[in-house]
Amino acid sequence: MAIDKKPPMPATATGIGERPKRRSLLDKHRIIETNATLLLIFSFLVVTVGGLVQIVPLFYLENTIEKVEGMRPYTPLELTGREIYVREGCYTCHSQMIRPMRDEVERYGHYSLAAESMYDHPFQWGSKRTGPDLARVGGRYSDEWHLDHLRDPQSVVPESIMPKYAFLEERLITPTHIEDLLTAQQMVGVPYSDEMMENAAADFLAQADPDSDYDGLLERYAKAQVRNFDGRPGVSEMDALIAYLQMLGTLVDFSTFTPVASR
Ligand code: HEC
Repeated sequence: MAIDKKPPMPATATGIGERPKRRSLLDKHRIIETNATLLLIFSFLVVTVGGLVQIVPLFYLENTIEKVEGMRPYTPLELTGREIYVREGCYTCHSQMIRPMRDEVERYGHYSLAAESMYDHPFQWGSKRTGPDLARVGGRYSDEWHLDHLRDPQSVVPESIMPKYAFLEERLITPTHIEDLLTAQQMVGVPYSDEMMENAAADFLAQADPDSDYDGLLERYAKAQVRNFDGRPGVSEMDALIAYLQMLGTLVDFSTFTPVASR
C-alpha cells in the first residue's frame, strides 16, 4: 500500500460533521461556568461541605494537648516574675519555643512540647530572636549570673545589646494582689486549687525566703525552687523574675519522657 493512501480521518477528530448527541461531562460543566449565580451556589456548597468535614470532628476532641507528666501551674512568685517578663517586653527579643530541628535542639535542648506552654496565658512563644530562646534557660546559669546579667548585660557578655534592668532590684513587691492574679489565671483555665488560692500570699513570700516554712509550697508546686534569688532582704521584682527564669523548661523530666508516636 502506498504511503499517501491513508484512510480518511473520522469526522469527530476533524471537527467536521455532527456533534455527538450525548452531552459530555465537560459540556455540562460549561453551564456552571457561564452562569455566575450557579457557580457561586455550587462553590458555596463545596466549601461548606469541605469546611464541615474538617471542623466538626474538632468539636468532639476533649483535649488537643498531649498530657505530660510534671507540668504544674506557676507558683505565685514565678507567675509574678512572668508578669514582669511580659511588662518589660522581654518577648520582643526572646522566644520561648524550641523547634524540632537539629540546630535548635543541639543549641537549646529538647524541642518544646505543647503541654509546656499549656498554663501560659498569654503564651510567650514569640516571633523574634534578637537574643537566644529562653524556653529551657532554667538551671543553665546561677542566680548570681542572672543578677549580673540583668543589672548590666554587657558586664558578662560584652557584645550584648540587651538593655539594663538594674532597677528591678530596687522595686520591692508585696503579694497584695496575688490572689487576683491567680483568679484571673483560673478564669482562663489554669487549675489553681482552693488550697493554692488560700496560700497564695504565703507561698509568694516563702519561695524567696529559704528560712521560711516552705514544705507546703513544695507540696503544692513540685520542683519549686526556694532561694533568696537576688541575695538581698525583701522580695524584689528581681527575685520574681529570676525565680521565673530559673524554672523555665525544668518541669518535664526528659530522661523519662517518651513522645506518643502519633504526634
Ligand atoms: C533589645 C533586645 C532584648 C531585650 C528587650 C531583652 N533581651 Fe535578653 N538578651 C538579648 C541578647 C542580644 C542576648 C544575648 C547576649 C547576652 O547574653 O546578653 C540576651 C540574653 C539573655 C539571656 C541569656 C540567655 C542565654 O541562654 O544565654 C537571658 C536569661 C535574658 N536575655 C533575659 C532577658 C529578660 C528577662 C529580659 C526582659 C527583662 C530580656 N532578656 C530582654 C536581647 C534582649
